[in-house]
Amino acid sequence: MDKFLIQGGTPLEGEIAVSGSKNSALPALAASLLTGEKVVLGRIPKVRDIRTMEKLLVHTGASVRHERGVVIVEAADLSRAEAPYEVVKTMRASSLVLGPLVARCGRARVSLPGGCAIGSRPINLHVSALERLGATVRQEHGYIEAEAPNGLQGAEVSFDRITVTGTEDLLMAAVLASGETVINNAAREPEVVDLADLLTKMGALIEGAGTSTIRVKGVAKLHGATHTIIADRIEAGTFLVAGAITKGDLKVTGCVPEHLRALIAKLHDCGTKVTETAVDTLRVRGNGKMKSVDMTTEEHPGFATDLQAQFMALMTQADGIAIITETIFENRFMHAQELARMGANIRLDGRRAIVAGARPLSGAEVIASDLRASASLVLAGLAAQGETSIDRVYHIDRGYEKIEAKLAGAGARIRRVS
Ligand code: EPU
Repeated sequence: MDKFLIQGGTPLEGEIAVSGSKNSALPALAASLLTGEKVVLGRIPKVRDIRTMEKLLVHTGASVRHERGVVIVEAADLSRAEAPYEVVKTMRASSLVLGPLVARCGRARVSLPGGCAIGSRPINLHVSALERLGATVRQEHGYIEAEAPNGLQGAEVSFDRITVTGTEDLLMAAVLASGETVINNAAREPEVVDLADLLTKMGALIEGAGTSTIRVKGVAKLHGATHTIIADRIEAGTFLVAGAITKGDLKVTGCVPEHLRALIAKLHDCGTKVTETAVDTLRVRGNGKMKSVDMTTEEHPGFATDLQAQFMALMTQADGIAIITETIFENRFMHAQELARMGANIRLDGRRAIVAGARPLSGAEVIASDLRASASLVLAGLAAQGETSIDRVYHIDRGYEKIEAKLAGAGARIRRVS
């Protein structure tokens, strides 16, 4: 199993380029099942979750080709409207094929995801939304079996709570349903907007993506399209924190500053300078002394839960007490124990983590427990004195493209060992 070895203490300098968004690329790949024509997707990140989604598309009968920086999906004949357990257990986002498969094939069989390191993460909201559109759904042998032999019918769906992939799944089902669908309490994440942009290019009629009410007028058929995935705001945010925690001077290029407002505001409050040096570039300059600020995760445009772990690593290096409240997932503090092994002073109290800083971090052997937790350990390792060894970095490979090479390019002393 691969590990990262990090010698901490070097300020990051220079530039790091951001890849395409994993969480945008996943629904975009699933959306390509909605048409038999070619869907050409640019800026698909080379990360493990994407390879898993591509395997899943091939399992359903689609062809997936990589050609000169783009991924081409052709789903002319779908022979198996199914997401098997072997795939879903490694990637929960596999449930994103549920909506497209029911819409296109009139049926789908998708394994229920099992437990997850960050919370229970059920898909009940995806299922009840499909039922509102007229699908009959049964749960049997660990699978969700959905059927709509005569097609889906548009309806008004009000989500009990905001769900990102639930909104995306429903959007992909609604575009081929007859009549109008209104999605209330929809997720407003940039990834939802990106998906709506792709679907619109494919011929879908969608209004309101990016707001909490999305209206979809169903069409009989979608066609092929070419689309470039948006920048990964979570990867960009991770690098901004890397610049801040190492007290470096780093430019993060190819990002969308608008998608990072909540993090930028918090970095300013801590005393870290973040400036927009170009429309797609943010420069972060770490300050000698940072002060602690409280943070609560929220749905977009609030502070992203996917940056909570990284922000916690940063707060270990800020003066004072920071209270970090996680409202999206019930168990997303696995990194706290590992950060504590490196010398951080963190007390957990239900959904709150109380971080008392600044305490110097010292390199230690730690274990990555999930994708974003792993990123926080890398950040802590970059700031720590001495060597940090991070085990189970396959978690980080799920969602960060060549993170060690990108950080090394900005001066970090990090290497992968097998
Ligand atoms: N929820 C339910 N029932 C459902 C769906 C969600 O109770 O049917 C709950 C979840 O358990 C959670 C909350 O609703 O407590 C919000 O979950 P959401 O559905 O929004 O999460 P998701 O769509 O499964 C996506 C990202 C996550 C990100 C969350 C929140 C993708 C592929 N995944 O997950 O990304 O944390 O939204 O922003 O888009 C990551 O990249 O590391 C990651 C975990």
